[in-house]
Amino acid sequence: MVVSRRGFIATAIAGSLSLGLQAQQDPEQNNHEQSNRKSGSGVGTGKRPILICAGNGFPYIDDAYNFLKNGGDTLDAALRVVKGPEDDPNDTSVGLGGLPNEEGIVELDACCMHGPTRRAGSVGGVRNIKNVSQVAKAVMEHTGHVMLVGEGAERFAVDEGFPRENLLTDNTRKIWLLWKETHSDWWGSGLADPQWKKRLSRSLAQKTANTSQPKDEWQLRIDRMEMVAADLGIAPEERMAAIRKVLFPPTGTIHCSTLNNKGEMSGCTTTSGLAWKLPGRCGDSPIIGAGCYTDQDVGSAGATGSGEENIKVAGAHAIIENMRHGMSPLDAGRDALKRIVRNYNGDMERLKFIDMTYYILRKDGAYAGVSLWEGYETGKPHRISVHDGTRRNEKTVNLFPGVSQEWPPTPST
Ligand code: GLY
Repeated sequence: MVVSRRGFIATAIAGSLSLGLQAQQDPEQNNHEQSNRKSGSGVGTGKRPILICAGNGFPYIDDAYNFLKNGGDTLDAALRVVKGPEDDPNDTSVGLGGLPNEEGIVELDACCMHGPTRRAGSVGGVRNIKNVSQVAKAVMEHTGHVMLVGEGAERFAVDEGFPRENLLTDNTRKIWLLWKETHSDWWGSGLADPQWKKRLSRSLAQKTANTSQPKDEWQLRIDRMEMVAADLGIAPEERMAAIRKVLFPPTGTIHCSTLNNKGEMSGCTTTSGLAWKLPGRCGDSPIIGAGCYTDQDVGSAGATGSGEENIKVAGAHAIIENMRHGMSPLDAGRDALKRIVRNYNGDMERLKFIDMTYYILRKDGAYAGVSLWEGYETGKPHRISVHDGTRRNEKTVNLFPGVSQEWPPTPST
């Protein structure tokens, strides 16, 4: 990889947006947090059996709940949930139809933990196999290892009977081509780099525009992207969503944790990871203790969002340890989020471009969904799906008000 040819840094792409956010004011934040603590608003105590997952698992939790209720294994119940998005070509964050790496190749990560037997399995950077959560389980059951990656993981999966298939759909191929045509020089050092700064200047945009009423650089960029999207055959109603995925590479992912009548617990997480990533990049999802952690004595937790940030705080493990020492699921999750905030010394200019959601289930059925921000987009809050006999979606409890990565981009000042 030749870093120098990439003119600007990944996370700083969005950094030229006008944020209008300076240091967070604690009293406001605390009020906001308090107002979010209503029962049924991302926190609660469910009845056994119970399962929780990210919102993209919602369509699949009825079947998994019934399986759990009828005595099915806790990990198999969780795998039933996440298999839904893995098989769905229209879920671009997981399995078949997941957004690819920078070379247009889909690479998947997953891990699982089985509470009753205290075992774990994981795979990273797997190509051509869509149900990687089940491959992680096979690693757990059929090897003495915990983690397999890359080609070895793929060969193991094929030996285990998993079919090889092309995971890139026509839809994701077109979005990847849009990224390739318009935005593929984006890699470089990241948000955590001490030299990080917002990328684009308005004066450059004005020179480029060459009109008496110059457009903002972002608008010029988006106009061009719309033209390229049209040339690629992306339907008009899908163009802005595709552009958003190019400008703000999503991390997607699904996590599910389960608890049965006997108090047994399991968890699993699966993802196609960060869109347009460097080949071989693994996020938090296959990392036991980051993307997922289950301790039969305490609880189970998992994550979706900025994988690099979650790895650095070992989020799922930190949450379980917090609960082991007496914190509620809500406080345990918020503490993990605050560790991410601490890693940036509370710098909201950078934190605006990070998002993280934790799904937390304690052994007594108490649960919480917590997130750094309300959602990625206004009007689309992060959700935790819950089933304890009643199937529901609940908005997560967010640490900061507002959404990450404002959209549509506003002119820089
Ligand atoms: N959380 C998924 C990833 O960053 O890969």
